[in-house]
Amino acid sequence: MSIAEPTTASRLTALRGCWHPVAYSRDVGDQPRASTLLDVPLVLWRDAQGTPHAFHDLCIHRGTALSLGMVQGNELICAYHGWRYRGDGRCTAIPQLPDPTRVPAKARATAYHCVERYELIWVALAEPRWPLPTVPEFTAPGWKTVLTGPFAWRCEASRQIENFTDLAHFPWVHPGLLGDPSRPVVVPPTVHTDGHVLRYEFLRPEARSTEKYPLFPNWDRRDSVRRTRYELYLPYTIVVRMDWGGAEQLVYLFASQPVSADRCVGYCLIRQNYNLDQPDTVFQAFEDEIFEQDRRVVESQRPEQVPFDLHEELHLKFDAVAVAYRRAMRAVGLG
Ligand code: FES
Ligand SMILES: [Fe+2]
Repeated sequence: MSIAEPTTASRLTALRGCWHPVAYSRDVGDQPRASTLLDVPLVLWRDAQGTPHAFHDLCIHRGTALSLGMVQGNELICAYHGWRYRGDGRCTAIPQLPDPTRVPAKARATAYHCVERYELIWVALAEPRWPLPTVPEFTAPGWKTVLTGPFAWRCEASRQIENFTDLAHFPWVHPGLLGDPSRPVVVPPTVHTDGHVLRYEFLRPEARSTEKYPLFPNWDRRDSVRRTRYELYLPYTIVVRMDWGGAEQLVYLFASQPVSADRCVGYCLIRQNYNLDQPDTVFQAFEDEIFEQDRRVVESQRPEQVPFDLHEELHLKFDAVAVAYRRAMRAVGLG
């Protein structure tokens, strides 16, 4: 299914003007790398300074995928006839010409907005309407980051994001890991919507960390209560801060890449100021298990994208976040 159906044209335009993650930084090295954003094929590459660039993955000469090419210095070189492109998309040399530098002005690659932050490469296909969220914990000393996933699902990014905010499914989908089946009642949080940012928090009694996954600092505490504060940045980025009443803090940065109308990739980064010597594989294995439990449920949902009209689906009081998300997405032209 294409995301660019007539009824979704204005939504697509709005989504193009937002930052989206397209790769973990560590996965964009010396070689060009292909990715897809909102049905647009991208090539990601780094110049000699390490600055990342994102182009439409298409050479203007004969339509070859630039991701098949190679990087030399500050230029990306097409695999078919060796045309060279610099970071702003301008073609600098056409080897077939007697004077290769006499390049016609039309010879360009389409370059998109591209930044690197929080160990992710972010791209906007049009002038971004809002800045990236500020997450000071990511530059604070005495913390470490674990990169989990990425999680490629067969649904739209809106469904993946909504699943990440859903409080009611924990005892059903993640019994023993995130929820307790004997305590399924959800007290709906109060959601504060401020333009494109939704904020809410809640306290919940939780099960102690298991021996297999000693991840949360509640192993020596009875009656552990986790305080969780959410910031949901429309359309598909979430910052979650957790604490247990002590000095230990945990920050999740979760962002979903809208690949197409029924494909997305979730990047889940965990920043923590405790357990600094724990191998990353412990959190990675935990999230692999959690996301796999979610995936089979979310991929079954129809339609594949969140229906932003509140008359579709049945919302009860405890679905406060889902309702606020639908309203806010519509209010800013994204739903
Ligand atoms: S197709 Fe890229 S240089 Fe010819
Ligand atoms: Fe879940």
